[in-house]
Amino acid sequence: MAANYAGLLADKLERDGSRREASAIRERLARVPAALVSAQLGAHRSPLGNLPVDGDSRLSTVDVSHPVLGEVQLLLPSALQARLQDFLSSVQHRDKLLAAGVSQPNRLVMHGPPGTGKTQTARWTAGQLQLPLLTVRCDTLISSLLGQTSRNLRRVFDYAQEVPCVLFLDEFDALATARGNERDVGELQRVVIALLQNIDALPDDTILLAATNHDQLLDYAIWRRFTYRLAMPLPDQDLREQLWAQFLGAYTPSPLSLSELAQRSEGLSGAAIEQVCLDAKRKAILSAKPHVEETEVFRRLGLTVAMNNGQRLHSVQSEIQWLRHWYPKYFSQRVLAAAYGVSQRQIRNAIEEENDNGDRGDESA
Ligand SMILES: Nc1ncnc2c1ncn2[C@@H]1O[C@H](COP(=O)(O)OP(=O)(O)OP(=O)(O)O)[C@@H](O)[C@H]1O
Ligand SMILES: [Mg+2]
Repeated sequence: MAANYAGLLADKLERDGSRREASAIRERLARVPAALVSAQLGAHRSPLGNLPVDGDSRLSTVDVSHPVLGEVQLLLPSALQARLQDFLSSVQHRDKLLAAGVSQPNRLVMHGPPGTGKTQTARWTAGQLQLPLLTVRCDTLISSLLGQTSRNLRRVFDYAQEVPCVLFLDEFDALATARGNERDVGELQRVVIALLQNIDALPDDTILLAATNHDQLLDYAIWRRFTYRLAMPLPDQDLREQLWAQFLGAYTPSPLSLSELAQRSEGLSGAAIEQVCLDAKRKAILSAKPHVEETEVFRRLGLTVAMNNGQRLHSVQSEIQWLRHWYPKYFSQRVLAAAYGVSQRQIRNAIEEENDNGDRGDESA
């Protein structure tokens, strides 16, 4: 937000003739971290012209990014990959389909649990089409005065028609809440209606993607307007193996059973697997090791699984107890002692203490 305001200030200063001050601000802005750049683009001239901005807060309601073909890695089950490819082909060969009278609007909705690659799919698609990705932050759109949402929507959709791009409504459910929702019924209904009108008014060749975690919240009328639908699943065994291989990359230690990792990570999303790998890689880099340590990967994985199950592990002792439970075959007393840098006796004590608690029927960690 600060970058945004600073950009606006620079614009104003320049208009008022204080060119030196303006360029000093812009120079400073140019050195802000990459994540702020899009906000900055929103504030002053961007290569894409003036981005729509929320009337009150002046926050830019869209992020512009330029995903590069080949730089965004996407791993999907083969059926989904094929469906996505169908979508791409129909976008790329629209003229041909149009001439034959079998074209469909370029609209795709992705739904599924968090971290399954919905946003990543949008990036990948924009990269494949070599178009900028306009991500609409539906939360900003909503949280700006509710009454203004309709106008903001209009601006965003207008903008998307002016420039060749992929328009991406992320966290779509923030906008497209079911009509019967009890809270703020009137206001939300207005938003849904405005959204439908905007989608209907879009030319069929505008590329529109949407993503949501809560498909059950989506209004049927909205579903109907997206001809392509991708149900993003949690990765299966095979895909998890590929995800582990990809995220560990050059840091994969030589004897490491990817299939075992994949088995133990059942139920986790791609994003969770990536996080485990990043943590293990960071540790390897900070201790100047060329590879991650196998034990460290399994340990972080175990802790992630615990978190995923809603288990809270507040102490080293509870971590040790959990790991032992979770994967007794791997986490022997010796391995645990090495992983935590303590003696095997301390490990034994921790485990025995848990057994004692277990006898009292008090296992909730
Ligand atoms: N199928 C996948 N292929 C490649 N990377 C993936 C996949 N799933 C998740 N990831 C990794 O996890 C990260 C998070 O995924 P992403 O943001 O796309 O999830 P999402 O489905 O949009 O989640 P949310 O619903 O929380 O927004 C990505 O940056 C990517 O690195
Ligand atoms: Mg997402």
